Amino acid sequence: MIILKTPEEIEIMAQASKLVAETLEALKKEIRPGVTTEQLDRFAEEFIIARGGRPAFKGYRNYPKTLCTSVNEQVVHGIPSKRPLKEGDIVGLDLGVIVDGFYGDAAMTVAVGAVSPEAARLMKVTEEALYLGIEQAVVGNRLSDISHAIQRHVEAAGYSVVTDFVGHGIGRQLHEEPQVPNYGKPGQGPRLQYGMVLAIEPMVNMGGSAVRILDDQWTAVTKDGSLSAHFEHTIAIQPSGPARILTKL
Ligand code: MF3
Ligand code: CO
Repeated sequence: MIILKTPEEIEIMAQASKLVAETLEALKKEIRPGVTTEQLDRFAEEFIIARGGRPAFKGYRNYPKTLCTSVNEQVVHGIPSKRPLKEGDIVGLDLGVIVDGFYGDAAMTVAVGAVSPEAARLMKVTEEALYLGIEQAVVGNRLSDISHAIQRHVEAAGYSVVTDFVGHGIGRQLHEEPQVPNYGKPGQGPRLQYGMVLAIEPMVNMGGSAVRILDDQWTAVTKDGSLSAHFEHTIAIQPSGPARILTKL
């Protein structure tokens, strides 16, 4: 069942989402060679708590940290550690926040210093795919119109979408129905309606789409070791016109 949100509930989700966006913006400024992903995690946690939010991922299915930090061939759910970032890395930062019982969720992939043109293109195409998906998030369209727009752009660029993880509805739970795959034929699934709030999150591999999970039980990496990027926004379907991106400042 897809839980529709009232205008009042959407405003609370907008507050949670704004704090996610502010934290990610602040984190971006902390990214430099030598900084450890654990330092980024501590920064994010303090930033969120100081502003009246609660980290959403910490404790979720025993996840140990506030942030997910996924470096290079890590796709999603990288656990912050003493690993220092180095020049040329790309790092996915994924963050969820709870305010007044409602969740916001967003992710971005950031360059550490100067990165290769190939890595920069992967990040650009992945972010573009997210925005093309969001463009389809309008009343009257069907859910898979979002999925299809993402897949099309990614594959036209010569990359692969990850199929083992999907976007999701979001509200009083981090993960609600519907699932939002990053692939599929257009014109399938539920019709999009005002009151739906979705986390759209393409994960894109430079090589093949296959992933595996490391022994830490969380970190997803590409099977072929190729680079991977991830961008995510929480969006609210509007009564008409384009979706409202709640995790954008
Ligand atoms: N954005 C991811 C998701 O929606 C992050 C979840 S990490 C977890 O699934 F630790 F909370 F699982
Ligand atoms: Co998500």
